[in-house]
Amino acid sequence: MNDTGRIQAEQLTKHFRRVRAVRGVHLDIAPGEIYGLIGPDGAGKTTTIRMLAGVMKPTAGTARVSGFDVARQAEELRHQVGYMAQRFSLYGDLSVRENIEFYADIFGVRGAERAEQIQRLLRFARLEEFHERAADALSGGMKKKLGLACALIHRPRVLFLDEPTNGVDPISRREFWDILSDLHLAGVTIFISTAYMDEAERCSRVGLMYQGEIIRQGVPNELQQLVRGDLIAIVASDLVATERLVATLEGVTETQAYGDRLHVFVDDASRRLPHIEHALRAANLRVTQIRPTAPRLQEAFISLVTHQQRPPTAVHQDRVR
Ligand SMILES: Nc1ncnc2c1ncn2[C@@H]1O[C@H](COP(=O)(O)OP(=O)(O)O)[C@@H](O)[C@H]1O
Ligand SMILES: [Mg+2]
Repeated sequence: MNDTGRIQAEQLTKHFRRVRAVRGVHLDIAPGEIYGLIGPDGAGKTTTIRMLAGVMKPTAGTARVSGFDVARQAEELRHQVGYMAQRFSLYGDLSVRENIEFYADIFGVRGAERAEQIQRLLRFARLEEFHERAADALSGGMKKKLGLACALIHRPRVLFLDEPTNGVDPISRREFWDILSDLHLAGVTIFISTAYMDEAERCSRVGLMYQGEIIRQGVPNELQQLVRGDLIAIVASDLVATERLVATLEGVTETQAYGDRLHVFVDDASRRLPHIEHALRAANLRVTQIRPTAPRLQEAFISLVTHQQRPPTAVHQDRVR
């Protein structure tokens, strides 16, 4: 079988002294997928990506990318994968073009291909008209696009992106994803970590990472369905009092506050909604809006994490702890 573009991991594990950063991760990602790794800070996303990109050795377990063993064939792997680190560095006083040229030198991209490839990447990253600008003078979003262009210089079949859009404004984030869509159409396997749930919804598959483990894996839709029951969204003036009251009502399994709104998980929205409305009115709590709503990945994730539901593979993971 041709494994070009494929990512596989078995029991992939990394310990730093007493910190179990990554615990028994299993992955099988087909060529051309966009796989999103989502999870809170400290979940182990960066450590996982570092091991897969061949820049950090696993404590235990194995991983293969494009068929190359990440621990034993790191040098071969380097030419197969593009890696944009969470804190990648550009040369601030060099221009956009010079930064890309620098990476062309590192990866030995020479001759006629070199100029052609640099021009192609400038166009691809929507940076053509800024090619003479110093990297330090770029906006946050443009820096990320330049980082991406640098990671693509050697035409990798697999791309690892570690929170590439962190701290970038929404418009630039959308543009960055447009570029990723082009790469996806070109057949590149993309492995991306993110803390933004809306980005996870653009992936073909996502893994939810928590405390070093991938606690759930699936297409975004499937993961949303894992949230049991229905969801009711409430906008109220006194959210704290509203939550306190609603949490005590029959049929309510969980409440989550998001800014000015409360998300209430219930066994059956059509049955419980009138009761909730009634109880709030009786307590003189003013409600601006109350309606059933579909759970998003964010609710699914929080719900799964707070309930600490373990996948069946957790039994095997005990071995490596
Ligand atoms: N080089 C390191 N030395 C010691 N601990 C580390 C190191 N890198 C990461 N960790 C720890 O491993 C855990 C996972 O970190 P990381 O992979 O960076 O998570 P994420 O990228 O999801 O925020 C954290 O507890 C972090 O403090
Ligand atoms: Mg990280």
